[in-house]
Amino acid sequence: MSDLLKLGVLISGSGSNLQSIIDHIEKGSLGARISIVVSNNPEAYGLTRAEKAGIPCAVLDHRTFAGREAFDRELIRVLKDAGADLIVLAGFMRILTGAFLQAFDQRIINIHPALLPAFPGTHVQQKALDYGVKFSGCTVHFVDEGVDTGPIIIQAVVPVLPGDTADTLASRILKEEHKIYPQAIRYFAEGRVVKNGRRVEISSVRSDDGAALHNPPLDR
Ligand code: GAR
Repeated sequence: MSDLLKLGVLISGSGSNLQSIIDHIEKGSLGARISIVVSNNPEAYGLTRAEKAGIPCAVLDHRTFAGREAFDRELIRVLKDAGADLIVLAGFMRILTGAFLQAFDQRIINIHPALLPAFPGTHVQQKALDYGVKFSGCTVHFVDEGVDTGPIIIQAVVPVLPGDTADTLASRILKEEHKIYPQAIRYFAEGRVVKNGRRVEISSVRSDDGAALHNPPLDR
């Protein structure tokens, strides 16, 4: 068990990404285990998911702290006590301070429901629809001091379809989130992530035929 990568998973809400990580771990396909789940929201359904899976949880309600620094100090303590090697933000809706980034330098990742660098921030499925893009998707990236600006590890692309609402687009994207986040964690567990400035290379990936995507599809 000791050679497994130890994850500290941070959540704020439903925790469907947490669930997909739990499911992949239970299938034995990740080379990782979750040391602790931390939520800033005492009502987060993700806490119930973690408890059902027998994973230790902590609630740090940000409203009970004097400010971001105090919140992050306690967050660092809890995650270090749990021995977390990799910090996995899974729908965690808080901005982290420089002190937190330093404490887990190059070991914090996030998933975002858009094709970064397009549409950082919040309500991004609606923003993608309003802009009229034909593709959106999701991105796993390193966390740096900006908002959703860190180096990109893996992305998935989904089409925007006629009649889409923010909800239908979000659920199409979420299905892909549930695939790429476990994949990204496996890359870390297998030591395959090589970061060169902004460019992240993954060693030993399958070759791809480089085919383009079109939406709407080209006429035959
Ligand atoms: C996911 O779509 C995730 O990408 C997004 O919140 C949702 C959480 O769902 N995260 C962000 O927008 C972070 N800026 P979940 O709680 O069911 O995993």
